[in-house]
Amino acid sequence: MISFDGCTKTFLLSGKNYSYCMYINRAGLLQHLYWGKKIGAADAAFLVAAHGLPASPNPDDYNKDMATDGMPSECGSFGRGDFRPATVIVRREDGAAMSRFRYVSHKIVKGALHLQGMPCARKADETLILTLKDDFSDIELDLNYSVSEDADILVRNTAVRNAGKDAAEIAKAFSFCTELPDTRGTWSALRLAGSWARERTPVVTPLAEGTLRIESARGYSSHQMNPFLAVLSEDCGEESGECYGFNLLYSGSFAITADVSHNKSIRVQGGINDFLFGWLLQGGETFATPQAALYYSAEGLGGMSRAYHDFFREYIIEPKRVYARRPVVINNWEATYFDFDNEKLFSIIDEAAKLGMDTFVLDDGWFGKRDGDASGLGDWFVNERKLKGGLKAVIGHCKEKGLKFGLWFEPEMVSEDSELYRAHPDWAIGKAGAEPCRGRNQLVLDFTRKEVVNYIFETVSKILRENEISYVKWDKNRDITENYTANLPADRQGEFWHRYTLGFYGLAERLTKAFPNVFFEGCAGGGGRFDGGALYYFPQIWTSDDTDGLERTKIQWGTSVCYPVSSMSCHVSACPNHQTQRITPFATRGAVASLGATGYELDLTKLSEEEKEQVREQIKNYKLIDELVLRGDLYRLADPFKGNYFCEMLVSKDKSKAYLVGERFRGDPCDHDRVLKLRGLDEGKTYTIRELNVTASGAALMGAGLFCPRLPDCGSWVWHIEEVQAERKLYKAIETGR
Ligand code: DGJ
Repeated sequence: MISFDGCTKTFLLSGKNYSYCMYINRAGLLQHLYWGKKIGAADAAFLVAAHGLPASPNPDDYNKDMATDGMPSECGSFGRGDFRPATVIVRREDGAAMSRFRYVSHKIVKGALHLQGMPCARKADETLILTLKDDFSDIELDLNYSVSEDADILVRNTAVRNAGKDAAEIAKAFSFCTELPDTRGTWSALRLAGSWARERTPVVTPLAEGTLRIESARGYSSHQMNPFLAVLSEDCGEESGECYGFNLLYSGSFAITADVSHNKSIRVQGGINDFLFGWLLQGGETFATPQAALYYSAEGLGGMSRAYHDFFREYIIEPKRVYARRPVVINNWEATYFDFDNEKLFSIIDEAAKLGMDTFVLDDGWFGKRDGDASGLGDWFVNERKLKGGLKAVIGHCKEKGLKFGLWFEPEMVSEDSELYRAHPDWAIGKAGAEPCRGRNQLVLDFTRKEVVNYIFETVSKILRENEISYVKWDKNRDITENYTANLPADRQGEFWHRYTLGFYGLAERLTKAFPNVFFEGCAGGGGRFDGGALYYFPQIWTSDDTDGLERTKIQWGTSVCYPVSSMSCHVSACPNHQTQRITPFATRGAVASLGATGYELDLTKLSEEEKEQVREQIKNYKLIDELVLRGDLYRLADPFKGNYFCEMLVSKDKSKAYLVGERFRGDPCDHDRVLKLRGLDEGKTYTIRELNVTASGAALMGAGLFCPRLPDCGSWVWHIEEVQAERKLYKAIETGR
């Protein structure tokens, strides 16, 4: 709900459990007042009286130069006394970049804002559009805030408008700015950092005076840093304590900063990376920034994660695909790499059918002259030398065996050894005359150019149109370098990164719309583009190339900090693991992979009979719990970064059913973290744990807990928990396999 009180000039925005409040102060500046537990409109006057006074020597008069330096602002400006990082900087024709944005008008509209060509929340109850104008130019800003009664997420973005005639250049346009009063000076920040095969490790560091900046300058969101930051109170734990989340719904180069200023307030803001950014804004034009999903709650990290999971499922991921039952996939990548022919694939397909899998996904190597990673990208036509009878033969074989068919593409890339590159060398990103930077022996296509995106759309569409394909894996295997396009004049090269990202979005939009019955899985050399922008098009994303039964617990744990388990592709792979060389039990790999969109990625023909039996059981088990993966609430019980155990459970919204997976890393005789208190159940309900033959109340299971099983290295366990009344239903389901 959004309300405006004309007397106090206060805006109060309230979602499910939070309120956000700001007011137009006497100087006409938009001052932040409050963001926290839900309050009523009647408290607005109190907030103005208690928090509206500035922590500056010039009480309540921000017209006085320099006084804005202490003002909690909704939009930091540059060159007029606020020395903290600005939110928007626009350079005018005469070169001046100073600004001070004051309130002009506002409107409250029903529903969400649609962003042309960019991911955005698909719905909202109401949106507040606050228009500010610069004192010194014709630049106007719309600060947009979308609120929904049933969500703890506040969606924000900024639009920069040139209401004058002269062109101006945007040097920085962040999506949001807010300020958190840190009266105790003890807050910390959580970021999700990593690398290839180690994506999204939660890293918590104290916030102190100065600016914490997380960013990607790689042209996409990256393995190294997720576009997400949380600010945590001192007492924030897994299930209690205040925290604020900032999730940028953007797949390009980004930055999020948390600046602790001289008065100890924390200015948090973020958006498109401003490093070398520039955008020419002609008179009458508007530039829209990506949206950000902001969260507040006092329910700890777990509460924040569950709110983001609900938000992504209900507001971002496409409704038609989000709750679609996920096929159990067999992917041939780690089974064959580039070395396959019909016979090899058919033997894997035959085995997959016998084991009860749903979809065969043919990975890299089926097209062009692609026998290794140095050739073929861009040539999206089948390599008939390798696949006799083309895709039709493989698809025909899948159909015969009752399997559906999926196919891998890497639409944004080109190999120098390809027909596409030979025909259009200028379509690759680079600077003529300079040796291009190669990554995995490949170049990146210049997606700032319409004709390039159109060509890729046509060639990929042709394959999808002419073949029965139900699943697409969309990969991207390198960072962007050179950051230059001959498509733009010298003074507009600052637009390159964002225009590339818009090109990617444009293609994703067109392909997902043109093929509504195809299920799209995102991927970027593992989990390098796992963000809210990509989730708008791809309901599921390959979480990481690291599928090791131990490492995966950490990667999935970190990813779950803000992304739902249903969006994580999780596969069982062979041992020794190809990335870590570790050997883990088959059962453990299966259990960990069941906490996501499960699948297999190994040579099924090499499995022992015992392992095959385990696969059958795992698939049967998965089909019993996949509703929990798609719609359940996640509770994280044992942190793999901190102790000897990993444990997570999924609980149905009505709390009648839960599924728990645990793993013990080392056979330690003196484990001290072995009592496991369950979470998320209803205290008043009685539950059974099928595997233990235990019946107890939710209160006992959560209050007293259970002992983790004592297992050898990397041993795992799985518990099915069900409300007693529903017990019969569970056993019936087990008997019938559904
Ligand atoms: C990187 C992906 O993460 C892998 O799963 C696989 O598809 C390879 N690329 C293929 O080149």
